[in-house]
Amino acid sequence: MFNKVQNQSIHSIHSMEEKEEEEEDVSFERLMNSQIKVEDRSSVLLREIKLMQELQHFGRERIPERVVHAKGSAAFGHFRVTNDHIIQYCKASLFADVDKETPVAVRFSSVTGERGSADTVFGEMRGFAVKFYTEEGVWDLVGNNVPIFAIRDASQFPAFIHANKPNPRTGLRDQNSVWDFNSLRSETLNLITYVFSDFGIPNGFRHMPGFSINAFKLVNSHNKHVFAKFHWYPHQGIDNLDIDTAAYLRGVNPDYARQDLFDAITNHRYPKWTLKIQVMNQKDVDNLEFNAFDATKYWPEDRFPFIDVGVMTLDRNVDNFFAETEQLAFCPSNLVDGIEPSPDRMLMGRLFSYSDTQRYRLGSNHQLIPVNEPINGAITPTLRDGQMRVDNNFDGLPNYYPNSFSLITDNPVYLEPPFTIKTTKVFRYDDSNDHNYIRN
Ligand code: HEM
Repeated sequence: MFNKVQNQSIHSIHSMEEKEEEEEDVSFERLMNSQIKVEDRSSVLLREIKLMQELQHFGRERIPERVVHAKGSAAFGHFRVTNDHIIQYCKASLFADVDKETPVAVRFSSVTGERGSADTVFGEMRGFAVKFYTEEGVWDLVGNNVPIFAIRDASQFPAFIHANKPNPRTGLRDQNSVWDFNSLRSETLNLITYVFSDFGIPNGFRHMPGFSINAFKLVNSHNKHVFAKFHWYPHQGIDNLDIDTAAYLRGVNPDYARQDLFDAITNHRYPKWTLKIQVMNQKDVDNLEFNAFDATKYWPEDRFPFIDVGVMTLDRNVDNFFAETEQLAFCPSNLVDGIEPSPDRMLMGRLFSYSDTQRYRLGSNHQLIPVNEPINGAITPTLRDGQMRVDNNFDGLPNYYPNSFSLITDNPVYLEPPFTIKTTKVFRYDDSNDHNYIRN
């Protein structure tokens, strides 16, 4: 089509040149980029296909911004295992050997601001999402920069975000709705004490720690499990801005954190983080005085010490912001063998929500966008067709399973080990006051 348009324009140029002597001075490039006009300059013709295509595409350049974490910045690098301690807990191939490296993409973000909002806002968490491109598929570890979350019940998430986003009538930030919600849900207190403290405004993304917050189940090669939380600690040190500097930066450089990350990588000052885990076995879980899978709770370090796992280095900026940052899509349900969901009810909501929203934001084939694609090509052959299915769509392979024709077989190695769910009553339970404060 483009050639056709080009040919047409070239043809038009020739005929125009014959007619319009004064245009001889006009450069070829400028002519190529201008419209065919009626001689008296009163109209353009609908036959000007290039003009139509420019306008049609331009009107469709935007995709929906993320419903939360809309403003963010991404970079690429690798994760290297430095300690073999994790192997006893987890059979995931990325942890199999010391010095093993896995490519990663990371996106840091603010939470409630819009796509163009300022980076140095006060009073909210920051996102810290890591995509590991492992040889067994993609693992997305989607965390924040504080170790706990505001709420423990996934059904409260839209309300929590609505209260922190602009007022539906005025479109203005509304401290009344923020504090109304917080005061009515006292489980938010733990988070509030973090984000309204001196830890409230990270000095760019490079100085942020990261936390999975939700616990995950780690399964080892004997199919024994423990539960673990993941933590990232920056080699650059944790550093935060004071409120006046942050306010000044919101004015002079709203993209302060984005620029800091981009410039550091461009200048070969590659940021690094150490990954650590905390581990609980089933007995610890059963004996804990609070619910181990409550996202508003921190696991005490003295009882569940940190174990070093490896180091992540970010050494490559994105080549194209839209392709590699805006289209980067994280889903906590992207897990690999050896890492499973824990019984955290917040996590359950997240397992559904992200892959659902990606289908809205990027389309039903979001996982085929190169920055999201697993390096082992492990995409399920029963997920077929749909908008923007631009690969070979599994050619002639059957689109049902099991079948007698494709060479795909189930591999028992990937069968998750059985686990027990206690037989128990199902009812609507208000746990909004579950150990929000403990008197010492
Ligand atoms: C039920 C609770 C939650 C729900 C329903 C939820 C939902 C969402 C949704 C819909 C997005 C937008 C995704 C996109 O369009 O790409 C998102 C982004 C994100 N969420 Fe959550 N979220 C929840 C809890 C959490 C928690 C507990 C954390 C941290 C542990 C978290 C961290 C993030 C991060 C870092 C992003 C941005 C990912 C990126 O950089 O693209 N969320 N969340």
